[in-house]
Amino acid sequence: MDNRRLIIAVDGPAGAGKSTIAKRVAKILNIEYIDTGAMYRALTLKVIRAKVDINNIKEILKAMETTTIEFINNHIYLDGIKVDKEIRENVISTNVSYIAKIKEVRSMMIRLQRKIAESTNLIMDGRDIGTVVLPHANYKFFITASVEERARRRYIELTEGGNESITYEQVLEEIKTRDRIDSTREIAPLKKSPDAHLIDTTNKTIEESVKEVIDIIERG
Ligand code: CDP
Repeated sequence: MDNRRLIIAVDGPAGAGKSTIAKRVAKILNIEYIDTGAMYRALTLKVIRAKVDINNIKEILKAMETTTIEFINNHIYLDGIKVDKEIRENVISTNVSYIAKIKEVRSMMIRLQRKIAESTNLIMDGRDIGTVVLPHANYKFFITASVEERARRRYIELTEGGNESITYEQVLEEIKTRDRIDSTREIAPLKKSPDAHLIDTTNKTIEESVKEVIDIIERG
């Protein structure tokens, strides 16, 4: 890899703080932030809107053929329309892992993600970035936290806008199910790359976790 490039891979389960930390690190280092989960969520939104059965792989792939997913100025666009808000709804969270385990879906996303990483310095977060998408990244981090803490954070996030009527227990179950599907799927399961730095955010503030990441990068 060209050593003037800065490529940072971040993986971990839902609610661990990946995207918050990655966004802040991107700002500090003045590099791009790419949220690959948003790409899987955008495709899931398309499938749900088209009322395609989540188990009908053939129809999902057909819908994918006519789908464009892009990042423009830190916003995610599905078929040319900004969908930042829509992809965060809980109906997307409960369905996305079924879409993300499809082999052809992953191949398409990986191609897109590698293409984005070809031309810019970036921090990319997801489930398989250090292991599959960008195995030659300069720095890799695996960010995690206890499942209860992750559910608590996600519950606060979902309910603070007042739009979602959901209980903490439901969020906990949803996260456990997603962890299970993401970690046990055949292709590119969620796992720590052996060369990734492990950051457990359970009892840390965001600032402390960001500092940990930046310190590691500055140490080289
Ligand atoms: O934000 P949150 O942590 O809830 O999840 P996300 O990063 O938005 O990712 C949503 C889902 O997309 C994950 O649960 C995975 O099923 C899938 N995903 C994946 O399979 N591979 C990635 N690189 C990123 C996300």
